[in-house]
Amino acid sequence: MTNDTTSRMTKCRISDAPVVEFIDFGKMPLGNGFLSEQEFDSEYFYSMRAGFCEESKMVQLIDQPAPEQMFHDHYAFFTSTSAGMCRHFRQFADDVRGRFLGGSDAFAVEIGSNDGTFLSSYAEAGIKHLGVEPSANVAQVAVGRGVRTISEFFSPALAEKILSEDGPANTITAANVICHIPDFNGVLAGVAILLKKNGVFIFEEPYLGSVVEKTSYDQFYDEHVFMFSAMSVAYAAARHGLELIEAEPQITHGGSMRYTLCKRGDIAPGASVGRQLARELELGLDKMAAYEKFRLNCETSKRRLMEVLEEMRGKGLAVAGYAATSKSTTVINYCGITRDHLAYICDTTPIKQGKFSPGAHIPVVPYEVFKNNPPPCALLLAWNHAVEIMAKETEYTRQGGKWIRFVPEVTLT
Ligand code: TYD
Repeated sequence: MTNDTTSRMTKCRISDAPVVEFIDFGKMPLGNGFLSEQEFDSEYFYSMRAGFCEESKMVQLIDQPAPEQMFHDHYAFFTSTSAGMCRHFRQFADDVRGRFLGGSDAFAVEIGSNDGTFLSSYAEAGIKHLGVEPSANVAQVAVGRGVRTISEFFSPALAEKILSEDGPANTITAANVICHIPDFNGVLAGVAILLKKNGVFIFEEPYLGSVVEKTSYDQFYDEHVFMFSAMSVAYAAARHGLELIEAEPQITHGGSMRYTLCKRGDIAPGASVGRQLARELELGLDKMAAYEKFRLNCETSKRRLMEVLEEMRGKGLAVAGYAATSKSTTVINYCGITRDHLAYICDTTPIKQGKFSPGAHIPVVPYEVFKNNPPPCALLLAWNHAVEIMAKETEYTRQGGKWIRFVPEVTLT
């Protein structure tokens, strides 16, 4: 059933200019909405469409469920479940600390601090810090490991409150969080309030350029309201007296970008900004034509993936989904993958195990089910962790186990 809390957006969330739809993914459940059999009848669906605003250059979802539907006490994503991501966050934290947190009065804020993975090294080093994490159960884990955390949504009002209690921040960081927040203008207004002179706001998010280049359409799901680019971030920042001073590509999430903003004029922009903006012009990210082409590429990808899965089904070869990612919800529901195509999805996250995938209701089982009784074929749903997974699964591959991939192209090897 479709719930009526879905809000329809025809105006850009950044500029008030119109957003033009370029892809309709159809009826979609929540990306992270793994559920029990008893919850099937009340499952939440919304219409997932993405659009582009010529004025702000922002790509965004047109309809989005209310945030309360998505980030709540049972929110299932914990940063520290992937070894690669833990390493990445440790490096990110060390880098920020080395560059910006030298003074004895340094103060570091993180928006969407999850289970405290990023801030824990600051806590250990005695650096003053504060995590802002709306999901209470996840925030509790951070508090348990000694990371000072409040369970609230970041807003200008909260920025004022933090400023009055703790003073201005040298750094405000966020990873895979800012694109989740529909009120990006509110976040930037809050950042402008809380940032110290010469302070920086550094955030990294899945990158639009990578999505377009790799046809990784599965980065679109309810939590990702925005698919940022250097162009759109620079535009939005300027509306709040902020300036983009670095744009550094990251390999995480199959292609992310780390953006650094400061108050306008505080720090001169580095060469990376001009470089990324030029690259984006080359990709045509400022024009609707790039997104029309993206849609055609998505349709081709969907057709090919279903051909491969149908072929497997025709041959009676079982296929298992590998990793119950949020992204997999988009692939499974957009392509029309059913229990007839995937016997199960294996995943290492205990709270997803024993549940069913959103929409298609494919059983999610512990990783050991795959390990102990390997199927002839696996669909690599966590393609962004391919290096880590392939290293772990050399035995499966050596024994003739096949992999179906769909990013950047559909292959069976
Ligand atoms: P991620 O790409 O972070 O997912 P999302 O699309 O939700 O951002 O992958 C995390 C999920 O993948 C999590 O459910 C755990 C699972 N996973 C495995 O089951 N095995 C693995 O080896 C890896 C790396 C992830």
